Amino acid sequence: MMDNASRPIGVFDSGVGGLTVVRALMERLPMENIVYFGDTARVPYGVKSRNTIEQFTTQIVDFLLKNEVKALVVACNTIAAVAGYRVCKMAGAMPVTDVIAAGAQAALNTTQNGNIGVIATTTTVNSNAYARAIHSKAPQARVLSQAAPLLVPLVEEGWLDHEVTRLTVREYLKPLLAEQIDTLVLGCTHYPLLKPLIMSEAPRLALVDSSTTTADAVALALEENGLLNRNNTAPDYRFYVSDIPLRFQTIGERFLGRSLEQIEMMGLG
Ligand code: DGL
Repeated sequence: MMDNASRPIGVFDSGVGGLTVVRALMERLPMENIVYFGDTARVPYGVKSRNTIEQFTTQIVDFLLKNEVKALVVACNTIAAVAGYRVCKMAGAMPVTDVIAAGAQAALNTTQNGNIGVIATTTTVNSNAYARAIHSKAPQARVLSQAAPLLVPLVEEGWLDHEVTRLTVREYLKPLLAEQIDTLVLGCTHYPLLKPLIMSEAPRLALVDSSTTTADAVALALEENGLLNRNNTAPDYRFYVSDIPLRFQTIGERFLGRSLEQIEMMGLG
């Protein structure tokens, strides 16, 4: 049995996109051990029903709890949007951080004119989760949401600076820019990889990348709960996925920003 602080942080996503959060955690909390689960066999979640996402989420959280994690990080906007309460219920007293709460707070810290744009998957937009999270803290803020589902496959294809992606981004941003947003939340784990392209399309927008704000929120939660690992110069990283599809390594390394070692396959359900 490990002592509490030495136990790993459990991070999970519908696929590889959550590795952007792992990357931010490795930078922000370099002494923490991390266990990651990506449901690559069943991705994308962004077009699935609430019931299905809840059921998959329960299986993932079960798996991470068996791995004796000390905290949970929901690194998937879609899961946070429709099954966040389920995660909290299963976690009990364990700290849970999610990309939506962190992204909503960061958007409020960033906006000057109170007009916040959100791009996300269709399920996340339909759940209205970002608007609810923002309005719970600032009822007067205007939240303009746009589903941008085509960006997920474009990122997976590696078309990060491709004309097709540029035109797609331009089309999705048009209605948001027309509403004078000054801040754009990248409300899907895949979108931070498109930051340079989005910035060149809309240079005046402030972009909220929830991976870095989530890492800050995790650091705070660990500190508050006395769970920070302060003496670990050789952190252990374990990556579990439910399938290893073609080109997984290449795509995963792009998200993680470093080589992806120790990947294990773990079927759930
Ligand atoms: N991870 C999902 C999210 O952040 C995007 C991919 C999916 O649709 O599963 O919303």
